[in-house]
Amino acid sequence: MKTIIIKNSKIDKQNKILKKIYLLFRYIFNKYIKKISNPKYYPYYYDGIATTHNCSFINNENFLRSYNRGKKAHGLDYEMPFRAHQSIWCANNTFELDGDFVEFGTGKGFTMTCVLESLKKWNSSEKKLWLFDTFKPEIVDQDGKQDGEKKCKFYAENLQSVKKNFEEWNNVNFIEGKLPNTFKDILEDKKIKNISFLHIDLNFPTIEFECLEYAWPIISKGGIVLFDDYAYKGFEKSYKLMNNFAKKVNKLILTTPSGQGILIK
Ligand SMILES: C[S@@+](CC[C@H](N)C(=O)[O-])C[C@H]1O[C@@H](n2cnc3c(N)ncnc32)[C@H](O)[C@@H]1O
Repeated sequence: MKTIIIKNSKIDKQNKILKKIYLLFRYIFNKYIKKISNPKYYPYYYDGIATTHNCSFINNENFLRSYNRGKKAHGLDYEMPFRAHQSIWCANNTFELDGDFVEFGTGKGFTMTCVLESLKKWNSSEKKLWLFDTFKPEIVDQDGKQDGEKKCKFYAENLQSVKKNFEEWNNVNFIEGKLPNTFKDILEDKKIKNISFLHIDLNFPTIEFECLEYAWPIISKGGIVLFDDYAYKGFEKSYKLMNNFAKKVNKLILTTPSGQGILIK
């Protein structure tokens, strides 16, 4: 079975010999060494998912261009193709619906640059994207404060650098500050009337839950909420809170192997 190499990834950029050595090492490792805990060799093995099933989306031209655009914004070679694939899927299936795109927790913009790059008609449409974040690099502590000294390499350096990552797209709005208050203000001003795609990725379950409660009434019928952390290891609180919410509104959240959850209104 052939290992899937993501085009333009660090490995893909190596010369032929180094690539072959890597592939050989990976093959031996997965087939013989990992076999101690894993019964099979998996050609797809990224970001907590291993599968032998068809993952040919990885070499789809639109996916690759979008994924590489996301990686460019992120600036790191952190491989998470399934998460990107599912975000692209949600965005493409809600693009024609009435309503804006919203993201709670943008960081440097990996997911949303990936999504916008995948939508060829974005710049000729009226659709708006609203990005909510503090746009600060510091780690958020248990009380939700983000003023310590420790930084997270996945978070934004500042608002200006994130704006640069979205330069080529129209109708992108950056809302800087702490959620849920920033979102409540926007709702009060009626700047967002309805939402067709909502991506929630704050890594902070209680605030995510509050934001979802505020957003749900204006999600369009058929609109999609994508939770980045829903079933992710270590985010059991998020799983519980979001399931409670779904029960309240008579819906079920789809658990996906990437840890993301999908809720359709
Ligand atoms: C995991 S990162 C988002 C990653 C991003 N979705 C991506 O695709 O790369 C989480 C983000 O949530 C932001 N955040 C956490 N709590 C927040 C709050 N209460 N208000 C606004 N932003 C918050 C952090 O600043 C951080 O940028």
